[in-house]
Amino acid sequence: MQRDAHFTNAALMARRRAALPTGLGQGFEIFVDRAEGAEVWDVEGKRYIDFAGGIAVLNTGHRHPALVAAIAEQLSKFTHTCFQVMAYEPYVELAERLNALAPGNFAKKSFFMTTGAEAVENAIKVARAYTKRSGVIAFGGGFHGRTMMGMALTGKVAPYKIGFGPFPAEVYHAKFPCELHGVSEDDAIASVEALFKYDIEASRVAAIIIEPVQGEGGFYAASPAFAQRLRALCDQHGILLIADEVQTGAGRTGTWLACEQWGVAPDIITMAKSLAGGMPLSAIIGRAEVMDAPAVGGLGGTYAGNPLACASALAVLDVFEKENLLQRSKDVGARLTAGLKAIAAKHKSIGDVRGLGSMIAIELFKNGDLHQPDADLAKKLAAEAAKRGLILLTCGTYANVVRVLVPLVASDALLDEGLAIMAASFDALA
Ligand SMILES: Cc1ncc(COP(=O)(O)O)c(C=O)c1O
Repeated sequence: MQRDAHFTNAALMARRRAALPTGLGQGFEIFVDRAEGAEVWDVEGKRYIDFAGGIAVLNTGHRHPALVAAIAEQLSKFTHTCFQVMAYEPYVELAERLNALAPGNFAKKSFFMTTGAEAVENAIKVARAYTKRSGVIAFGGGFHGRTMMGMALTGKVAPYKIGFGPFPAEVYHAKFPCELHGVSEDDAIASVEALFKYDIEASRVAAIIIEPVQGEGGFYAASPAFAQRLRALCDQHGILLIADEVQTGAGRTGTWLACEQWGVAPDIITMAKSLAGGMPLSAIIGRAEVMDAPAVGGLGGTYAGNPLACASALAVLDVFEKENLLQRSKDVGARLTAGLKAIAAKHKSIGDVRGLGSMIAIELFKNGDLHQPDADLAKKLAAEAAKRGLILLTCGTYANVVRVLVPLVASDALLDEGLAIMAASFDALA
C-alpha cells in the first residue's frame, strides 16, 4: 500500500541521492513496499518477480510464515543480551545443527557473526591462530566481502578495491579454474604452486580460501576433482582449506553446503546470506581443534549471533526439511536451465548456460564470440527485465553474466513467468 503521495520511486531516489553517498550502489531505482515468497511490490504498487532473492539471501522466500512466527516468538521473549555476556539456547542449538550438517568425519564447532565479510574475517583469524602462520591464498575473480581482509582476499579490483588500500599483507591470488576463459584445472593448481615458488613458502601459508562456486565472480564452479587436488596440496603443506559458502550455502546448490559435493571436507566453512532467511547472521563452522585455537575473548561481537537471527536460522533448517527444499533446489535449477537453454537457442549472445543446483547463470558475448564479453547487454537486459516486472542480477569478472538466485519457494508457474520475461527482454534487445 502506498503510504504517501510523495512516496514515488523518483521522489525517494531524489532523497536518497541527497542523503546517501554515491559509493553505495543500487541496481534499480525501485523502493520496496512489501514482499511475499518470490514477489515484491514497490511503493507505486508495481509487482516484480524476484530472481535476485536479495542476493542469495532468500532461499526460503520473503516472509516465510515459519520464519515470521519464529522471529515473532523470539521477539516476545528478548531481542539482545550479547551472547558473550548472557547466553541463550537457540545459538547453541543452531551450532549443534550446523556442526552435524557440515561434511567431514571429525568433531566440529561453530560460532556466529552478523555478515558474510565478518565470517570470512573470523575464518582467517581462526586459521592464523591455529596454524601460527600468516599467509592466505585466495583466487582471482573471487569475492569475500568489503571489510579490509575481505577486500584483500577479493580477486576483483573494480569496484571493490578502488581507492581503499593498503590492504592486510600476506594475501596472494591464484587462478580460479575456468575452462570457458582458458584456465584449466592444471593451470589453476600450477598457479598455487607458483605462489609457493615466487611469493611465499608453503610452510608460512595458513589457509587457502575458495568459493565452491564463485558468486560475484560469475557462477564458475570449482569441480570436485579440483577441490580434491587443493585438499591434497593443503594436506601436503599443513595448510587449512576454507570453503567460503556465503553465497553457495543454505541449499542454493542442491545440497545444504556446496562442498558436500566435493568428496573431501574443508577445515573451515563460512556461511551467511540465506542461513537466516533475511535476518543478519553469519556462521563459521570448522574442525573442533582448529576452532578452539583463538584465546578466550578473541572471538565474538556485540550483535554477533543475534537471538532473532538464530531463531530465524533454526526455522530455515526446519523449512528445508519439511518442504524438501534441497530437492526443490535441484528442480528449480533444472527448470531454469532448460528455460534458459531454450532462450539461448534463439539468441547467440548467450554463450553459456551453467550452474550448480539452483545457482544458475548465463554469460553474454558479442555475436557469441567468447573473446568479446558483453557487459553492456547484461546491463540492458537487467533494465529491460525490470521494466517488464522481473528483477535480475548481473555479475562476473567481465560484468557480462546474468545470474538467477530466485527463492526456492517460487512455484513453477512463477519461474516460467520470469523466464518468459527474460525471453521477451532478449527479443526486445535483439
Ligand atoms: C562468497 C562471499 N563471501 C563473502 C561475502 C560478503 O558477505 P557480506 O556482504 O554479508 O559481508 C559475499 C557477499 O556477496 C560472498 O558472496
